[in-house]
Amino acid sequence: MKVDVLLGLQWGDEGKGKIVDVLTPQYDIIARFQGGPNAGHTLEFDGRKHVLHTIPSGIFREGKLNLIGNGVVIDPVTLQREIGEVEEHGVQVDARMLISRKAHLILPTHRLLDAANEQDKGKDKIGSTLRGIGPTYMDKTGRNGLRVGDIFLPDFKERYDRLVKKHARLLSNFSEFSYDLSEHEPAWFASIERLRQIPVVDSEQWINDQLDAGKRVLAEGAQGTLLDIDFGTYPFVTSSTTTAAGACTGLGVAPTRIGEVIGIFKAYCTRVGSGPFPTELHGDTGEALRKAGHEFGATTGRPRRCGWLDLPALKHACMLNGATQLCMMKADVLDSFEEVQVCTHYEVDGERSDHLPYLLEESLVNPIFEPREGWPGAGQSGSGTELPASLMNYVQEIESLTKTRISIVSMGPDRAQTHEMAS
Ligand code: GDP
Ligand code: IMO
Ligand code: MG
Repeated sequence: MKVDVLLGLQWGDEGKGKIVDVLTPQYDIIARFQGGPNAGHTLEFDGRKHVLHTIPSGIFREGKLNLIGNGVVIDPVTLQREIGEVEEHGVQVDARMLISRKAHLILPTHRLLDAANEQDKGKDKIGSTLRGIGPTYMDKTGRNGLRVGDIFLPDFKERYDRLVKKHARLLSNFSEFSYDLSEHEPAWFASIERLRQIPVVDSEQWINDQLDAGKRVLAEGAQGTLLDIDFGTYPFVTSSTTTAAGACTGLGVAPTRIGEVIGIFKAYCTRVGSGPFPTELHGDTGEALRKAGHEFGATTGRPRRCGWLDLPALKHACMLNGATQLCMMKADVLDSFEEVQVCTHYEVDGERSDHLPYLLEESLVNPIFEPREGWPGAGQSGSGTELPASLMNYVQEIESLTKTRISIVSMGPDRAQTHEMAS
């Protein structure tokens, strides 16, 4: 069997959580492959809303296994809280979830370093989620990190102390930044005890064995392609590989074992945090989109910046990921517009370009928009409803530009508000 990959094609928050939940019945295992509690994946069903940060979005479906892969960074405190929230709904998480021994741990000092770095950057800050993501991946590649497997070693505490000592030295360089580690350590060590109760595995071996045994696996990405450490709008990116390649390194599956690559995008664009966003709307229209789409971060509650669909960026993201099918999300949100705009290309140095340039800064890139007929009043709708012809035209334009089929159009946050498109 092969691993199908589901990932974001924009700046995150495309609706990955919803679609993973919708697709889970077709799979045996859902495996998160990168990111950490910077993610906020929202699922809605039976009139309830759930936000997951580290736990894979297949957790609510009975009989399925959920893996937190080696590419993920785990804050045990957040994870413990999240497990508690899911268990309130009668789900026994330990029976449905496994964690890779090789996943790295976020320490309290990683969060402090994230905060100190951001404070130090001032107006140039990344706008990170302050979850310690960057510093944890830095320790991973710097070969200093602590991994889940280490919590079972007799010298775990010494390893922890050694790393914290390094962090304290780094933090002492930020004269403006004060902290009290003793406020954070007791909760962290308590959550490590909880972590010990969750089954851990050598997940690269486990997942390949599962594939050999005929199990169907869906790899769940976090963030989005334009936040990728290599291909995103650097330096305003996250610290992991959010593109399809990340599923290979973040789970230990070979490229030859990847099957479908399902790319998710909104019918418009959003971004939270700093960094360039060519199609951003600064005035009333942006505000209207934010309101209609409830565009506030699922992790930090920050307002998301909103703008029209950026076709060159979408095409680029499809190329980088080798997307084999697409899901278009939140088309219902645009239903108050008689006419919508799409960015068909950019002007860079006065020349037409439909490629993504090295820098996407507003001063260098002029997005060129064209109007498209809207689908006013379409509203949220379930699978049995016919979609308006103008929306179908929008779908077909994107399919022909990206040369990729749109298999799902989502018309509302609920599981049931999902239109599967005939192939
Ligand atoms: P993720 O990080 O990619 O999982 O996305 P988020 O959960 O951060 O953000 C997506 C938001 O849009 C959540 O509040 C979802 O409940 C909501 N959502 C998902 N699909 C749709 C849709 O088709 N229409 C509407 N109106 N909301 C949606
Ligand atoms: P999901 O999985 C949207 C953004 C942050 C910031 C940048 C770096 O829900 O789509 P980090 O904390 O990773 O160092 O922040 O990346 N960011 C996200 N934006 N959705 C996310 O996750 C994000 N995770 C990180 O806002 O701009
Ligand atoms: Mg999100």
